[in-house]
Amino acid sequence: MPGRRDAGSRPWPLDPLDPLSVDEELRASLEDLAVQVAVEAGRLVRDGRPAAVDVHRTKSTDLDVVTLMDTRSETLVRERLDAARPDDGVLGEEEGVTGGSSGLTWVVDPIDGTVNYLYDLPAYAVSLAVVLGDPTRPGAWSPVAGAVVAPRTGEVFSARAGGGARVRGADGEGEPVRLRVGDAQDLAGVLLATGFAYDREVRVGQARVVADLLPRVRDVRRMGAAALDLCHVAAGRVDAYYEVGTHAWDVAAGMLLVTEAGGVVSGLGAQDPPSEAMVVAGGPAAHATVRAEVERLLAGR
Ligand code: IPD
Repeated sequence: MPGRRDAGSRPWPLDPLDPLSVDEELRASLEDLAVQVAVEAGRLVRDGRPAAVDVHRTKSTDLDVVTLMDTRSETLVRERLDAARPDDGVLGEEEGVTGGSSGLTWVVDPIDGTVNYLYDLPAYAVSLAVVLGDPTRPGAWSPVAGAVVAPRTGEVFSARAGGGARVRGADGEGEPVRLRVGDAQDLAGVLLATGFAYDREVRVGQARVVADLLPRVRDVRRMGAAALDLCHVAAGRVDAYYEVGTHAWDVAAGMLLVTEAGGVVSGLGAQDPPSEAMVVAGGPAAHATVRAEVERLLAGR
């Protein structure tokens, strides 16, 4: 496998940005752990959902809600990770950063699609990725393994660097199906997913971009969970996805799913890393077309 090295003979971490520098066996066991913990958290979130979910608090804006279950899910994930991998760091959406000494950090979204969860729309997920490097700095980290669990459909998406991406049904008990991105070539044939920020002002600009794209693509989907949008790109269920304002916990696992399914993920510029400023993902041709269009539109051209 290109880039693969022997982890036993080199100091740790081998290369903060090369996920293939992590021993293959360890990458496989990290994927298994991500799946196991995300499935357990997904069951907690789904089975423990009260008939009427209360907003526990709000964060960045009045639209950015946190439910009690976001907090309980993150607590469970942290407890399980601490028991299994006490030397790893954790970056969680609700509780922030806990340092580690192994060079690996878990990036946790305890419920991605919280507004869907609030309204009992099925498109929500638990997203867990383990990354090399510093996930708080764009371009300074790289996912090694991850899982995205959609508890309401029972789908468990997972991937490890160099090991492909797959989906299993039945809360992970089903047979694995290998994922492959779609092959849409032209903008007119692209089924495009996107998302909108919690900041009402930012949405004004986002509406302009999507209004320009809408008549020129096959159609647009706004499903409300960035981690699942990326899984859908990986599965070829949409051709491309872009969004401004996501955080590492929204996208870390999904990004790996896309690249391991043969797709491309970037920031706004072709060479830019994905960041809060922009994430664009798709099959190679759809990614290139959508990224160039979004870049042109945001530049006001
Ligand atoms: C949000 C969802 C949404 C996306 C937002 C995210 P949260 O995550 O992924 O689809 O548009 O940018 O913040 O708040 O539900 O974890």
